[in-house]
Amino acid sequence: MVFKYCPAPLDTLKVVILTGAGISAESGLKTFRDQDGLWENHAIEDVATPEGFNRDPSLVYRFYNERRRQLLSAAVQVNTAHLALARLEARLGKNLTIVTQNVDDLHQRAGNNNVLAMHGQLLSARCMASAKNWYTDKDMDQHSACGCCLPSCGVRPDIVWFGEIPKYNELIEQRLFDADLFVSIGTSGTVYPAAGFVALANSTGAYSIELNLEPSMGNSEFSERHYGLASDIVVAFVQHLLQGPSNV
Ligand code: OAD
Repeated sequence: MVFKYCPAPLDTLKVVILTGAGISAESGLKTFRDQDGLWENHAIEDVATPEGFNRDPSLVYRFYNERRRQLLSAAVQVNTAHLALARLEARLGKNLTIVTQNVDDLHQRAGNNNVLAMHGQLLSARCMASAKNWYTDKDMDQHSACGCCLPSCGVRPDIVWFGEIPKYNELIEQRLFDADLFVSIGTSGTVYPAAGFVALANSTGAYSIELNLEPSMGNSEFSERHYGLASDIVVAFVQHLLQGPSNV
């Protein structure tokens, strides 16, 4: 695999990497759009919208409880693409920001610390009154006690549903404005604002690269594109960055 991008010296290179479900596919987690728009056999509108939650909260609690248990099961482990990005952070430090649309914790488990989980996290619960959140690895339902304010205020999965505002918007924009390199990995590019990050990065002069199984919706906006399994192309790209001619 030949990469055209010639990295600047790594001591000053500022990189933003956007990840989507494709990077976790080889860890045993299904992507969102690989089954006719169904997510683990459920319509996204039923399990990933505030309207779906109001209509049938039991279904939504059960759905995320199952996803959380699956994430914590022995079957789900980090893959070599996650580990490659952890190696990159070990070299670039705070100059690497991972922005993930994924609600799993596989980047953090692999060793990345600088991760902005813009769509929330399965291992987080949110108080419906105060919006405070906290770590949880437990099931939740309508009767779960909040503990942060009123006993009766209610707890929900700390997931950003369609129609809600993604987390860390300003910080992500700032990092994109500062970036020399923007890399999009394993995302179909169908959900905004993440689908617009490539245009934002391009507008301030960053070089942009798509690494995905197949061309995304916005593939033509990238300076360079490579298609294949994340375990192949992400590992090869990180190796290219770390061992590039300007850094040996
Ligand atoms: P999608 O399911 O839309 O897209 C996953 C992408 O990963 C596809 O383009 C696949 O071709 C690619 N892919 C699959 N397996 C791969 C592999 N082994 N290696 C590399 N690429 C692979 O998932 P996202 O783009 O992440 O939002 O979806 C974006 C958002 O839509 C999600 O965060 C979620 C969803 O509805 C919310 O829940 C708010």
